[in-house]
Amino acid sequence: MADAQNLDTLLKESRRFEPSEEFRANANYRDPAIYERAAADPEGYWAEEARNLDWFEPFHTVLEWNPPHAKWFLGGKLNAAYNAVDRHRKSYRKNKVAFFWEGEPGDTRVLTYDELGREVDKAAHVLSKLGVKKGDRVTIYLPMIPELPIAMLACAKIGAIHSVVFGGFSANALRDRILDADSRLLITADGGWRRGGIVPLKQNADQAVEGTAIEKVLVVRRIGEQSGAAWVEGRDISWEAEMAAAPSTPYPAEPMDSEDILFLLYTSGTTGKPKGIVHTTGGYLTGCNTSMRSVFDLKDEDVYFCTADIGWITGHTYVVYGPLSAGATIVMYEGAPDWPDRDRFWQLIEKYRATIFYSAPTLIRSFMKWGTEYPKRHDLSSLRLLGTVGEPINPEAWMWFHEHVGGGRCPIVDTWWQTETGCAMIAPLPGLVATKPGSATRPVPGIVADVVDEEGRSLPPDQGGYLVLKRPWPSMLRTIWGDDERFRNTYFGKFEGIYLPGDGAHVDEDGYFWILGRIDDVINVSGHRIGTMEVESALVSHPAVAEAAVIGRHHEVKGQAITAFVVVREGITPSDELVNELKQHVVQQIGALARPEEILFTAELPKTRSAKIMRRLLRDIAEGRVLGDTTTLADPSVIEELKQKYAHRE
Ligand code: WTA
Repeated sequence: MADAQNLDTLLKESRRFEPSEEFRANANYRDPAIYERAAADPEGYWAEEARNLDWFEPFHTVLEWNPPHAKWFLGGKLNAAYNAVDRHRKSYRKNKVAFFWEGEPGDTRVLTYDELGREVDKAAHVLSKLGVKKGDRVTIYLPMIPELPIAMLACAKIGAIHSVVFGGFSANALRDRILDADSRLLITADGGWRRGGIVPLKQNADQAVEGTAIEKVLVVRRIGEQSGAAWVEGRDISWEAEMAAAPSTPYPAEPMDSEDILFLLYTSGTTGKPKGIVHTTGGYLTGCNTSMRSVFDLKDEDVYFCTADIGWITGHTYVVYGPLSAGATIVMYEGAPDWPDRDRFWQLIEKYRATIFYSAPTLIRSFMKWGTEYPKRHDLSSLRLLGTVGEPINPEAWMWFHEHVGGGRCPIVDTWWQTETGCAMIAPLPGLVATKPGSATRPVPGIVADVVDEEGRSLPPDQGGYLVLKRPWPSMLRTIWGDDERFRNTYFGKFEGIYLPGDGAHVDEDGYFWILGRIDDVINVSGHRIGTMEVESALVSHPAVAEAAVIGRHHEVKGQAITAFVVVREGITPSDELVNELKQHVVQQIGALARPEEILFTAELPKTRSAKIMRRLLRDIAEGRVLGDTTTLADPSVIEELKQKYAHRE
């Protein structure tokens, strides 16, 4: 059986899909020489790309590389909001639609570039009136409503650093991020819509700001009376009232140094504390702007729909800064894909005649489970290009996407990248590179990737090893906010001057990269990064828990699901109630995205003689596999007991 499955996978992996003649003939990138040109002179290539942005002052030096610190486009001055919005207002794109926004309940809002620009100007006046200055951090905790990109762009316009926190995070998680960034202003809403229910953002925010430096909370009205949100006089300020009172004059864009920070975005790592990834203005914007033209083959007439929440990097780069800086028309949707029915995305594509659709493997696996009847209900013929991000895509999901959404005619760009890389690093240029289901294909021009062994030596084809990026690139993270040491150790600690993403990979004989997943203590649940340590810390903060070990177990739809092994304190009896209580506790500490799928009680955790938890064995238990090597265990009876207890569960 196992052999037959392997064979099956190999057969699938050998399939190749060429872009159609029509796609190839019209693609932005038609000449494969771009790869050699960029490889021969990466700095020259990136400098050329950077010049697609509007600079108030040109840069005099392309790159200064003092590993692990890079500076790009030195001396250059620009503004991200100016590039994303204002420059289009001065062009033929002035009245072009920037956002087709649709709320979950079905309400809509259309913003042209000019209208968006006016909103951003007003919001910049509001922030400035509230005392926000260049370099200040502003935390934003909003649902997927137009005010979210408007608030981000307003920060960018005045030179403040935004830190967007995904609306699915709990009050505690929000507080940690507010404290770390030391923000004085929080922008939130009275709530958000999700599957017909209300996400209590304001209640969470009220809890989160206690004991932080937050002085003012700017509140957008999304829900209204039924939100039940409280109002704190003197601290809470109405977004609508402030916007209505704001001057209607343009707000002058702050000329930012290329290396000034544009935003912080927190992501999970191997320790319990989330990392504030630092992105700067010129390099980040160059990266995301470039990939819109190259990877997404964006043209002026495209209607571009990325399903990611702006609370994640995919939303920052491919709902806001990338498509706006490229002058695209964007479809932005507030809610769940299965609300009111499982065809919501397909309905949106049909309604707005979307041409490019970018989503995630976990969603595609849900679509597959729901069945082809949902995409079949709609005319998806406007689509010409599809994309995926977040985790390796299994070939069956790729094929389903290709056939039932792309009608067999749309190339699929499988884009490998990270919060830290800023934009897509390994992905096909769709007019040039044939795709193979499950492979992100090859590094984009200007990026040098490799797969290496423990000593950093390049591995021959088909051998698994560490994925690395060997040269600096413009949109790379600059540091971790407030913790440069951690930045150094995490990403550049293993190989001198070489970036280590934390993923395993192999390269095939055609030079195609196959990402194998995380090789550190990070779990990828539905495309969201969750550190095992974060969940463990949450569990042990519960009074019933003495010790916990968390692992990622294979899951059909989510990719990975969280299994937690828990040792209870003396005198506590494990029960179903306790399981539920612990799950709820994790939701409270981090957010619903970190809720363990299962909690398994154990008298002890399997440890090595040097007291390291053997997660590998726990994974074997959770996935019902034959146990791997157990010879280094301090006490083999621990694992025997676990096996007896859990090997036969369904
Ligand atoms: C995983 C999301 C395989 C990978 C943009 C990476 C992928 C982590 C892919 C980053 C892909 C993302 N193929 N794996 N196309 N895209 N990943 O920071 O493990 O939320 O390290 O950024 O997601 O997740 P992050």
